[in-house]
Amino acid sequence: MPECLRLPGAEAERGTIVTTPTSARMEEACQDLVLSQAQIQEVYSSLLAQINLGLGRVTNQRATVKCFPTYVKELPNGHERGRFLALDLGGTNFRVLLIELDDGDFKMESRIFAVPHHIMTGSGKDLFDHIAECLSTFAHAQHIEHEVLPLGFTFSFPCSQHGLTEARLAQWTKGFSCSGVEGEDVVRLLEEAIQRRNDVQIKVCAVLNDTTGTLMSCAWKKHDTYVGLIIGTGTNACYVERLENVELWDGSWEEPKQVIVNTEWGAFGSKGELDHVLTEYDREIDQHSINPGRQVFEKMISGMYMGELVRLVLQRLTKKGLLFGGLGSEELAEKGSFYTKYVTEVESDAPGDYTNCRMVLEELGLDNATDEDCENVRYVCEVVSRRAAFLVGTGLAVLLNKMNRPSVTVGVDGSVYRYHPHVHRLMCEQINQLINPGIQFELMLSEDGSGRGAALVAAVASRTNS
Ligand code: GLC
Repeated sequence: MPECLRLPGAEAERGTIVTTPTSARMEEACQDLVLSQAQIQEVYSSLLAQINLGLGRVTNQRATVKCFPTYVKELPNGHERGRFLALDLGGTNFRVLLIELDDGDFKMESRIFAVPHHIMTGSGKDLFDHIAECLSTFAHAQHIEHEVLPLGFTFSFPCSQHGLTEARLAQWTKGFSCSGVEGEDVVRLLEEAIQRRNDVQIKVCAVLNDTTGTLMSCAWKKHDTYVGLIIGTGTNACYVERLENVELWDGSWEEPKQVIVNTEWGAFGSKGELDHVLTEYDREIDQHSINPGRQVFEKMISGMYMGELVRLVLQRLTKKGLLFGGLGSEELAEKGSFYTKYVTEVESDAPGDYTNCRMVLEELGLDNATDEDCENVRYVCEVVSRRAAFLVGTGLAVLLNKMNRPSVTVGVDGSVYRYHPHVHRLMCEQINQLINPGIQFELMLSEDGSGRGAALVAAVASRTNS
């Protein structure tokens, strides 16, 4: 299993925007989705301001970027050992993992379970019963049902923590809305569900966010990793902050005087801070979402929304007569029909080749697209994904400049980063525009942060406590 990988990519030849819109009207119609340097600067300054508000004791309440301290202070040294269970809940799937760390070696067994829509939006009790059932199925299949293994719970939603094993859900994101969980300690809910079944035993050693897992997983091999980033179903970043800057810190002041802070930057914009860059498409996505007015930054960036953004633009351009001879299709008119993976596929065609693009359009019942249509569809995908990459790059520049460490590796995970052919390079481009002179950075694909990261947090916690 590879650890921290640099994304492969014939980066240079794939270029930034490789497509030119075929008409000035087309370019003009997409203009709102192209961020100017002045807008980027404004995003940079107001995100930095929100992070500072989030870190402040008195100002935290009004901050949109909450900057939750995670209680993870120590980073792995590469010598962690032990067998751990990990649970990973945070997107469309739920995973159970059995992980063995042995002084730099790593073995893993895992199983993926779907989280059906009715569970995502049902009662909290049903959600945690489902998790407990999956855990039990896995433990029996692995013949570990009689062991009490230490467990790391990756729960990738905004939580306020008061220790490594307590996390109160602040609010659901990413399409979840289970009742009776907001404000509650999810570790307690998990333990209660397991007790209700009474057929497996666990000892929860740590609860963590996927960004923390990603940071830890990369730090295991790359000791200058100080940022963890996700661009998947949602987007978020965590970073290592000095305790003196974390005014809400109520934990230990022993060395190291630092803690991983989960920024929850996806919530940025929920008090209008991004209004100056929002387009009609962003507003529409927001209005039709399960959480209007919230997670505004996330809705401009992450995989849960990217395909739908593209679809809305395509619809609009078709209505204006700029695409498909003015005739769309029933499929294109249907919410959610343009998957985010289509954006990746369309942009993975070599310039001038439309093989993937045509396949995608055929899926959408658009069989008669001309080369010009394909060129323009690709252009729309590019402006949307490029804007996302530039926004994330801006966010990373804020964190890198704020930490002001000479050299930082950023551990990154999530389907958009992993599979999109240009996002990595575009992010680097944007960071380079904004980063203070003298700071070096590298973005690394962090393999399986939510699983291995959970085991590492549990391992580091047992090392620290022993
Ligand atoms: C959402 C969640 C956050 C998570 C991110 C990536 O923004 O609120 O906790 O880290 O998605 O999965």
